Amino acid sequence: MAQLRDGFQSRLGFVLAAAGAAVGLGNIWGFPTQAANHGGGAFLLVYFIVIFLLALPALYTELYLGHQAQSNPVKALKQAWQEQSPKVGATAGYIGLFGAIIMLSFYSIVAGWMLAFSLEPIMTLLGFDEIAAFLKGDSTLRNFIFTPMMLLLTASIILQGVKSGIEAWSRRLMPLLLILLVALIAYMATLEGASEGFKAYLVPDFSKVTDPDLVIAAMGQAFFSLSLGVGCMMIYGSYLKPNENLPKLTASVALLDTGVAFLAGLLIIPAIFVAQQSGVEVFHEGKLIGEGRLIFAVLPELFANMGQIGLFVGLTFFVLMSIASLTSTISSTEIPVSFLVENHGMKRGSATLWVTLVILFASSLIILNFEWMFGLVISLFTQYQLPLMGLFYFITVGWMWQRGNKLLEASSGFHYYFAQYVRFVCPVLMTAVFVNVALK
Ligand code: ALA
Repeated sequence: MAQLRDGFQSRLGFVLAAAGAAVGLGNIWGFPTQAANHGGGAFLLVYFIVIFLLALPALYTELYLGHQAQSNPVKALKQAWQEQSPKVGATAGYIGLFGAIIMLSFYSIVAGWMLAFSLEPIMTLLGFDEIAAFLKGDSTLRNFIFTPMMLLLTASIILQGVKSGIEAWSRRLMPLLLILLVALIAYMATLEGASEGFKAYLVPDFSKVTDPDLVIAAMGQAFFSLSLGVGCMMIYGSYLKPNENLPKLTASVALLDTGVAFLAGLLIIPAIFVAQQSGVEVFHEGKLIGEGRLIFAVLPELFANMGQIGLFVGLTFFVLMSIASLTSTISSTEIPVSFLVENHGMKRGSATLWVTLVILFASSLIILNFEWMFGLVISLFTQYQLPLMGLFYFITVGWMWQRGNKLLEASSGFHYYFAQYVRFVCPVLMTAVFVNVALK
């Protein structure tokens, strides 16, 4: 008997896993930082429009490709391009797979910092001040300890498979993440300066709404946040049972991801104003001082100013960040692992080991060449890989994949209108934004 493919056992499990893939550093760090730098409420408004017009259709397209194929992105895209050129489809699948490894190579370094910062308050509480200082201080050694640690945590979940690993852990970690986030918002709201932060976040500065930089920032943020363009959603879609209601599930995932980004803004932006109130330098020439410094300098300084309770607030915040990172790293790691298992007949254990070693190698290259490589890799990935792959998926589903494509076969109803939108509107919008990014 043919071996059944592993997959999600419940709709909730899928939604939590896909939302876990989407919710990450991008939501809790990237979104509030972008909002603070681009007119607060104005960014929020444009972000919601971009999510609705472009990111939501992109999310559906990617989930749909995986769901229909019930296989990993290389196979799925090859199949979709069967009549045109299977080679083009498979190559795009490989590019996505390579992108997932690149993303993991820088993401795991930052996720490692979150782990280190989670341990720091515990060490301080126990009186191990030197270790605490090491955990807070930037160093190559710290990166070489905590990046592999994050990779090991990820691998330990991936090893257990989709149902017992990804789904089971997403069901535990995502509710915990939401509880921690809401608890932190509630506490932050009681502090002096928070109300000014709420105002800055929620009241749009309409003069900024038409700024082209804002639209580009919102699109980049939306694509990164929904983990589009590398195949995370395609692989998760492929683990859904064939008869599931995809439009409804897509909307739930996007809603959860956008909801968490919105909530993160309710935490971080008031925290910035609270920090400013307590004397920490936060803005320089109208912009937030260095984006990295916000999380690893401004907030820790704010937590330190809170005294003993600050240790618990800091611990909660960085545990939250670590959870958000972990549910994202597992989704990207699953892409190459499933490819090795399905296309090369490898055992899951060996595939996980090989993928982890390759990511570790790529991360090590970045750690050793941090100054020039880290920022460059992130910009190339977010400015080129994500929008170009998004465009490719639209063209695949809207034009190239003919036989068996329910969207193109439909002559009325949701599928019909959605297909027209994906064929004509999405590629134009996507190209317009990409050209703007490239010309910048
Ligand atoms: N979607 C993930 C994030 O936002 C990668 O961090």
